[in-house]
Amino acid sequence: MRVKFKIYRYQPEVREEPYFDTFEFDAEPTDRILDGLNHIRWQLDGTLVLRRSCQHGICGSDAMRINGVNRLACKVLIGDVGARITIEPLMGFNVIKDLVVDMDDFFDQYRSVLPYMITEQPPPEAERLQSPAEQEVYDDTTKCILCAACTTACPSFWSNRDFVGPAAIVQAHRFIFDSRDEGTDERLEVLGERDGVWRCRTIFNCTEACPRDIKITRAIGEVKKAIALKGA
Ligand code: SF4
Ligand code: FES
Repeated sequence: MRVKFKIYRYQPEVREEPYFDTFEFDAEPTDRILDGLNHIRWQLDGTLVLRRSCQHGICGSDAMRINGVNRLACKVLIGDVGARITIEPLMGFNVIKDLVVDMDDFFDQYRSVLPYMITEQPPPEAERLQSPAEQEVYDDTTKCILCAACTTACPSFWSNRDFVGPAAIVQAHRFIFDSRDEGTDERLEVLGERDGVWRCRTIFNCTEACPRDIKITRAIGEVKKAIALKGA
């Protein structure tokens, strides 16, 4: 099939304002959007800049807007979106170049929720055990790959970039509800602050955007409830 990729470009060293470039070429319906972008980079215009690494939906580096929707370019088939495809960077982050956005603040927000195991218990001889039922409580949020598709689909984040955002809350959830962890109070303190979970207006954009099908809005609701119960 003949496809037309319309791509957001921002190359501040050659042009001050962003613009769109269009590329037409032949592709298979079973090619992924990332295959098309690689074709452009390797055959048509080597100056196109984007992030990608694993190419298999694991690293989370190639989240971008594809026909207006946040997706991973390596997980979307050209045949599923049609012959005219518009590609833009994630919304709400500053664009560094073309499809590459500045994610420093995103990772600061991630670090702010203490996304690691906190425990005073001495290390056991083998693993720190927990039952399957205890693991099930937070299993869904372990699937996060930090692609930022959720946070950059969130109108609350667009209007206030200090909002910690759904991705950081998902990461916090993974530890808050882990029976082996003892850092819950600290995390709930961070998330109960002005720009924490209460900025979430339950819009569900995050859940729709997540390429890992994490029930993000539910996880945020569970964190809100934990904060409310703690204060009760
Ligand atoms: Fe990406 Fe989903 Fe993690 Fe958000 S929760 S960063 S959309 S994997
Ligand atoms: Fe790693 Fe797409 S390149 S998730």
